Amino acid sequence: MRHLLSTKDLSRAEAIQILDIAEDMADVQTREVKKLPTLRGKTVVNLFFEDSTRTRISFEAAAKRLSADVINFAAKGSSVSKGESLKDTAQTLAAMGADGVVIRHHASGAPQVLAQSDWIDAGVVNAGDGTHEHPTQALLDAFTMRRRLHPGASRGKDLDGVSVVIVGDILHSRVARSNLWLLRALGAQVTFVAPATLVPVGASTWPVELSFDLDATLAATRPDVLMMLRIQSERMNAAYFPNAREYARQWGLSDERLARLRPDSIVMHPGPMNRGLEISAGAADSTQSTVLEQVANGVSIRMAVLYLLLSGEREALS
Ligand code: CP
Repeated sequence: MRHLLSTKDLSRAEAIQILDIAEDMADVQTREVKKLPTLRGKTVVNLFFEDSTRTRISFEAAAKRLSADVINFAAKGSSVSKGESLKDTAQTLAAMGADGVVIRHHASGAPQVLAQSDWIDAGVVNAGDGTHEHPTQALLDAFTMRRRLHPGASRGKDLDGVSVVIVGDILHSRVARSNLWLLRALGAQVTFVAPATLVPVGASTWPVELSFDLDATLAATRPDVLMMLRIQSERMNAAYFPNAREYARQWGLSDERLARLRPDSIVMHPGPMNRGLEISAGAADSTQSTVLEQVANGVSIRMAVLYLLLSGEREALS
């Protein structure tokens, strides 16, 4: 495999390999010198056509900790705003000698177009495309679950039998889709909970339980993991629920719902969070919350992915 475009493409063995390499990368980050020489002489371009805080910064940190040269490209302020196409942008990056391209794009499928084109001969990593996939987010989420559920002994482990409930704006969520494919490959049981208006057409054919009732689902599943999703207002062109207060009452993780979870269950959110809407401040900042762990683990996962794609070990993923 030359690119990482989707978790749907990953087998259980490939996913565990990435998670295990990320464990090694996490070990490196506990050292005084957090850098490895592995990608010295390689150039990684972060090509972001959509806003990002966590993903962009952690890919930059990951590439730098592997000693790659990093070029950060944001569509805002570039010639994209003058109408330059993805093809011309990619060919410009190829002329600069990019070995790896990390791309976030508002159009689902844009990373695949880039990977399949002859515009650039670089490893392509999907950093989130439209409502399609966000594979490194799902990998860092699985890494976080595995570490919490198998403390001190997570290497080689899958998530067999783990119960994961994912709540919220499934319709617009590339995080939910990437998590579903990866979690199923790792053996977890997944339930989506959302208002009917925020469930994608076709979701009934996916390998997931669907529910519209959060309280009933929490009582029935007693989940190991509760993942709250951001309401993506910027992708909404209609009223998908009556109002924010009603959404929070029915589908938000309130302090009261947090208190009803098993004390050992974990609360996840990919960020950025709408505090008071999908998650209360008390839940976001609780000891059960892994929000900041997820951010830290993102660097280890992205180091593992860049290492596998760019260090000459590309075939190790296929
Ligand atoms: N989780 C996530 O993708 O966050 P950013 O949009 O800040 O990168």
